[in-house]
Amino acid sequence: MRGRCTLLRVRGENRPDAAGKAKIIKFAIPGNQDYTASLLMAKRKPQQTVPGTTDRRIATLLTLLAENATIVVSGARIAREIGVSRSTVWRWVNRLRELGVRVKGEQHTGYFLEKVPDILTPDMLRQRLKGSLFGKRIHHFFKVDSTNRVALDLGHAGEPEGTVVLAEEQTAGRGRAGHSWHSERATGIYATLLLRPQLAPVQAPLLTMMAGLSAHSAIRAQTGLHLDLKWPNDLVFRGKKLGGILTEMHAEPTQIRFVIVGIGLNVNQEKFPTDLSAIATSLRVETGKQQSRLELLVRLLREFETDYNRFLSEGGASVITRFCGLSSFAQGMRVRVTNGNDSFTGVTAGVSPEGSLFVQRDGGPIVTVIAGDVTEDRSVNVSDRSSMDRTKDVQR
Ligand code: BTN
Repeated sequence: MRGRCTLLRVRGENRPDAAGKAKIIKFAIPGNQDYTASLLMAKRKPQQTVPGTTDRRIATLLTLLAENATIVVSGARIAREIGVSRSTVWRWVNRLRELGVRVKGEQHTGYFLEKVPDILTPDMLRQRLKGSLFGKRIHHFFKVDSTNRVALDLGHAGEPEGTVVLAEEQTAGRGRAGHSWHSERATGIYATLLLRPQLAPVQAPLLTMMAGLSAHSAIRAQTGLHLDLKWPNDLVFRGKKLGGILTEMHAEPTQIRFVIVGIGLNVNQEKFPTDLSAIATSLRVETGKQQSRLELLVRLLREFETDYNRFLSEGGASVITRFCGLSSFAQGMRVRVTNGNDSFTGVTAGVSPEGSLFVQRDGGPIVTVIAGDVTEDRSVNVSDRSSMDRTKDVQR
């Protein structure tokens, strides 16, 4: 059966066409790359073993230190509790230090955490996500090429719905339209969720839109910030990008086999590389406060689960309604739409039930935008706009 499936990428350029037919695009999954990672095993059925993962005991060491934060724990006790030698404990402590965890102490005195790190360890997440779809199978990496790449591999390997892949750092984070996603260590949330919904591929863009809404609610609950949603799924604050979603799926023409929803949020970045500084921002920058990534991720996964269940039981209409209520891009915004070499300007005029954007093209008809980059068009000032509107009136 797997041979009959086709992998579709639900990104701007590859979204289904207006007639509802999925555009089929072959997509090669990159080979495994070198990464360091920590993988914690599920309590029930063992999780897929992902190549390159480090021993789960390194995460247990971190949990042990975190539970006894600021108290010196002897190397002998740690060694006993984890079941390794004291020299291994020493090696792992150094490994944690390389990863930015502030562990103080020496082999002969014992160790303590100077500051409890905001690391998204599966143990801590599972405790907070009891009973949740996303609290069961969590693959956590300190460093990985892309959580989407891992989740795709896991999807093909049969991992169940609800599997979560997390990374503290990505070396080849993927963004929309072939862009990369800047994924600095332990500052952002880089998460991919594996889903196996009974949906047609044409409905997948709505899932992406829904994920943007879930992230919007989680951020609002944690920080009070009211973000804008740029069609189709960018999280934006004062014109700068704060987060994005990249959904990829493996499907037959009428049925999704699995879909992975990759979510990237800028949380505690204090600055960005020069090429991004004018267009990207973070919650830390906008609130002036360090934010708990763990809290935000828990909120996000809970919001996502609620929205997902509603979507499955009621369909996508509420997704469109919510999106239109929150996004300044949905209606009445002057925009420039760019898709490959094609570019035009117009005014947004709502969102279709499938999640496509309607744009009243300048001097032309209303067009349905199913793919492409949509940016606010500030090239026309207000007085020009009214004269242009008058021109259209005359034309009508
Ligand atoms: C966008 O360009 O707006 C989408 C960005 C999506 C980034 C996230 S980070 C977690 C997941 N893994 C990836 O490689 N990409 C997504």
